[in-house]
Amino acid sequence: MTYQVVLNFEDGVSRVISCDDAEKVTDAAFRHKINLPMDCRDGVCGTCKCKVGAGDYEMEFYLEDEAMTEEEEQEGYALLCQTTVSSDAVFNVMASSEACKTGAQQTAGEVIAAEKLSETSFNLRVKLEKPLGFLPGQYVNVSVPGTEETRSYSFSSKPGTDEATFLIRNLEGGVMSSYLAERASAGDKVELTGPMGIFYLREMKRPQLWLAGGTGLAPFLSMLEKVAEEGTDQPITLYYAVTRAADLVELERVEQLAEKIGTVTVVTILAAEDEEHALKGYVTDHLSEKDMNDGDVDVYLCGPPPMVDAVSKHFKTLGTEPAQFFYEKFNPSESKAEAA
Ligand code: FES
Repeated sequence: MTYQVVLNFEDGVSRVISCDDAEKVTDAAFRHKINLPMDCRDGVCGTCKCKVGAGDYEMEFYLEDEAMTEEEEQEGYALLCQTTVSSDAVFNVMASSEACKTGAQQTAGEVIAAEKLSETSFNLRVKLEKPLGFLPGQYVNVSVPGTEETRSYSFSSKPGTDEATFLIRNLEGGVMSSYLAERASAGDKVELTGPMGIFYLREMKRPQLWLAGGTGLAPFLSMLEKVAEEGTDQPITLYYAVTRAADLVELERVEQLAEKIGTVTVVTILAAEDEEHALKGYVTDHLSEKDMNDGDVDVYLCGPPPMVDAVSKHFKTLGTEPAQFFYEKFNPSESKAEAA
């Protein structure tokens, strides 16, 4: 049996490789021309140690205290020269992609369509030359046709298919926004570099609280697609906050996916004072202690920097910190700013 293994490098680059169930991860990586840190290949030196992000795996042997301690094993470290997988898996490699003689993957694609969803957003659909693996929530750099520029966007589509979609904020005068509004046509060539980023959906072991600000909905669409495919028993609450009702794009798709999953509650919030809506204001006006589930909750947030800062402060006001908090800030230059 063959599984998909994601190798996340320290510089934010991810590579997705195939790995047979009898194959050591370092061997599978080598087959893909990726030289993971390695010395003894016998579980003795500890050079290939990494942190496991997700998945079922087994280690054949390791020399206790020399290569790794028992505590490290319990904390989720593994020696990749001794590790085989029995499910799709994610490993966080303690080296840069460059040090492993690799880099971000390049994938060619063609524009299928650029659709204006509202005054504030576009949906860009790209046909890829081959299916692209990534973790739901990750992003790629997308070249802007007719320019030397690239811009970073989270996938809003499901991983592993040959069609990628992106929910893109319409920024006046922005390089990508201008292309999408004025020149985009089917067949335009684009180059995707990635996947990249540490904002991605982890194994869901507890209730989920997902907070999307505007086009920060994009990674959550990809996550919902993945969860709809695999199923979950965990409750997911998705807050989708925008300025105006017209900005609530892709809501129908969100609701369809939510219905398919069966454990998702979708909450929409409008900030504009001159519009009617059940919930008005900001996410922090509505996030309650109940949402925090006494801290037994994983929070994912994708939105502008003030939203990330406000939510972080709000946790302190509520007096409850989530078990895990992952966020991605996007800034007005159409590029990724910061993730954690
Ligand atoms: Fe030495 Fe894996 S390379 S323990």
